[in-house]
Amino acid sequence: MNENVTYYPREAVQKAVTEYETPFFLYEEKRLRGNCRTFKGAFDKYFPNFRPLFAVKANPNPEILKIIADEGFGVDCSSESEAWISEKLGIKGMYTGNYTTEEEFSFVKDKGMILNLDDISMIPTIAKLGMPETISFRINPGIGKATMENNVFAGPDAKYGVPFEKAHMAYSAAWDAGAKRFGIHMMTGSNVPISEQDYFAGIVRKLFEIVADVKEKTGIEIEMMNIGGGFGVPYHPDEKSLDMDVVAKSIREVFDEQCSQYGLKEPRLIAEPGRFLAADTGFLVSRVHVIKDSYKKFVGIDASANDMPRPAIYGAYHYISVLNDSKETEKVSVVGRICENNDQFVRDRELPKTKVGDTVVIHNCGGHAYAMGHNYNGRPRHAEYLLTLDGEFRQIRRAETIENLFRTTNYGN
Ligand SMILES: Cc1ncc(COP(=O)(O)O)c(C=O)c1O
Repeated sequence: MNENVTYYPREAVQKAVTEYETPFFLYEEKRLRGNCRTFKGAFDKYFPNFRPLFAVKANPNPEILKIIADEGFGVDCSSESEAWISEKLGIKGMYTGNYTTEEEFSFVKDKGMILNLDDISMIPTIAKLGMPETISFRINPGIGKATMENNVFAGPDAKYGVPFEKAHMAYSAAWDAGAKRFGIHMMTGSNVPISEQDYFAGIVRKLFEIVADVKEKTGIEIEMMNIGGGFGVPYHPDEKSLDMDVVAKSIREVFDEQCSQYGLKEPRLIAEPGRFLAADTGFLVSRVHVIKDSYKKFVGIDASANDMPRPAIYGAYHYISVLNDSKETEKVSVVGRICENNDQFVRDRELPKTKVGDTVVIHNCGGHAYAMGHNYNGRPRHAEYLLTLDGEFRQIRRAETIENLFRTTNYGN
């Protein structure tokens, strides 16, 4: 049993449900800071000039971003709104869009981000807006891996990045357009299986081959290497946690080997995890309100897939805790209120026997959870609270109201 998966702040949850209307997200500041330190600490040890960024898409709550920035992280943004909030908070970093429009580039251009281009065809657009001195390219290194097929971001079927065989053309076109300093970036998959501890070292080796090829063909020395995010976290209690020291050390070895083999000046290492920092710091707290004995037993909770769609979209596994003293267990499916049959957080799982009113906690809801939520069926999204270092609760986002959902029509506000 991996305690990183089964852990939740039980006492705090028990208190929070007496004070706040369910469902809500509860994030633990202590854990969030701990994950930041584990990640940054592992890489700082081997790369004194390491630059960590946080993938805002994983959790764009401003209070979460402020804590992560306070731990020494910049941001990786993928949309105008992510760049907008980062600028408001005074956090800088990189901008990695894909199939980006001219309007979007123009919006983010002066927000303190290094632009990371997804294709050669974007160079004329950037040149028209004014070529920055530093530019980076997202490269598709031809290989990718993830726990789920949809989360593989590289290889022939992926829509992202410049094909690695064409990388030299991208750099030389950017040089001709006025760029003088360069970065290389990859993001080959999200939630890479934890068992693949060598995966990142392998991809970094491939990136160095590309860096060397670019140098040979264009004379351009790439100064920054962003290895993306994708560091896997355990969702199931039988999975182990990733040993970040092993990952960082194996990347260090590849840096030494490849810089010497190709006679390269060492690029500055950058990484942009999302899930690794945020996932296990958040819990979706809900209550049972209907128990249905049908062909199966369904436990209806007040949270739905619109709050946290990972199980509905990917069939993702999430660990669930039930707060009661039941000694009996039974096989149930835990479901929400959306009119879609995939609105099932859990299917046919042996859980403690529940009754109406029991609190149910869904684990690993700190990253790509609220952020992926939506309003289907006209369901408002719910509130977010932070359990601060001094054990207090702080509301960091209000629940949406029905009127909020109609604020862009002639009704609501
Ligand atoms: C460009 C980019 N960087 C970083 C991330 C973060 O990935 P993860 O949360 O798996 O670390 C993503 C996730 O989709 C991404 O698309």
